[in-house]
Amino acid sequence: MAKVTVVGAGNVGATCANVLAHENLVNQVVLLDIQGDLARGKALDSWQQAAIDDYSTRLLGTEDYAETANSDIVVITAGIPRKPGMSRDDLISTNAKIVRSVTQSILQHSPNPILIIVSNPLDVMTYAAYKTSGLPANQVFGMAGILDTARFRAFLASALDISPRDIQAMLLGGHGDTMVPLPRFTTVAGIPVTDLIDAPELDAIIQRTKVGGGELVKLMGTSAWYAPGAAAAQMVTTILKNEKRIFPCCAWLEGQYGLKDIFLGVPVKLGKKGIEETIELKLNQDELQLLKDSAEHVRDVMKVYDDMTF
Ligand code: NAI
Ligand code: 2OP
Repeated sequence: MAKVTVVGAGNVGATCANVLAHENLVNQVVLLDIQGDLARGKALDSWQQAAIDDYSTRLLGTEDYAETANSDIVVITAGIPRKPGMSRDDLISTNAKIVRSVTQSILQHSPNPILIIVSNPLDVMTYAAYKTSGLPANQVFGMAGILDTARFRAFLASALDISPRDIQAMLLGGHGDTMVPLPRFTTVAGIPVTDLIDAPELDAIIQRTKVGGGELVKLMGTSAWYAPGAAAAQMVTTILKNEKRIFPCCAWLEGQYGLKDIFLGVPVKLGKKGIEETIELKLNQDELQLLKDSAEHVRDVMKVYDDMTF
């Protein structure tokens, strides 16, 4: 049976591990944090929930990387979240060091894992894990697009008074205010969303989606965790089941969309090997320009990372 580790037992990591436990796909999820007791406490709490929610997955809380040995999939959520007034990019100096050291420690015990990065700034932290690990690009990718499209779907569902389950949405670009929601690739039970919502209302929903993370930071004083944790768990589940579902994920581009040597949100097929295909949508000039603008922003933050000394 596959082995899954989640690094960071804070809000997002613990939620991810807990959602995975509910899936009953693995015997045990390892939850690692530098605060070992926090990881142990959340693991114990989740195990006590098993009798109520009818699952058998144990959680092992630890600070010891030896317990993560031979993991097949590792979700990295370690790092600081933003506070009100901060952008995700403001986290780079702290989180780059954390993501690098976590990646190195994981690789000492698991030679060939799939790494799913969650820590922010997401696109550049995924780049940091890729560069640090030396793993192939299909095995290192980031979670953002599932969350961002979930927010888009939630806002559309509220506006239309329907279930978000019936909304299919696509979104490209970096995980930040330059993300590119794509109404032309968004449907409600197969009906183009542009037939159902007028342009000004749709535009307002797109703008709200782009700053959806910030809206929650303002409300809670820290960033979101239920939807982010569930989104990361959905990626793990899809890989474990080899479902080959198509999700927007932060992936290494090698010429797709005219972009290369950059991690950016694009639709990919997820299966047991990780990213099994990167899908190129036929974008119009406006959409392509927005994607290029988003890539420029991510490249600026990549440069900050490349200039850091470790
Ligand atoms: P949190 O503060 O609740 O949890 C972070 C945990 O990381 C803490 O328990 C801390 O002890 C642990 N940690 C710090 N350094 C560590 C190390 N070297 N090794 C192991 N564990 C370490 O933060 P939260 O809310 O869980 O967010 C975690 C990260 O995920 C943040 O960077 C946040 O910005 C990001 N995030 C990304 C999202 C996305 O869509 N990609 C969505 C939501 C959050
Ligand atoms: C979010 O979008 C902060 O990236 C995090 O909620």
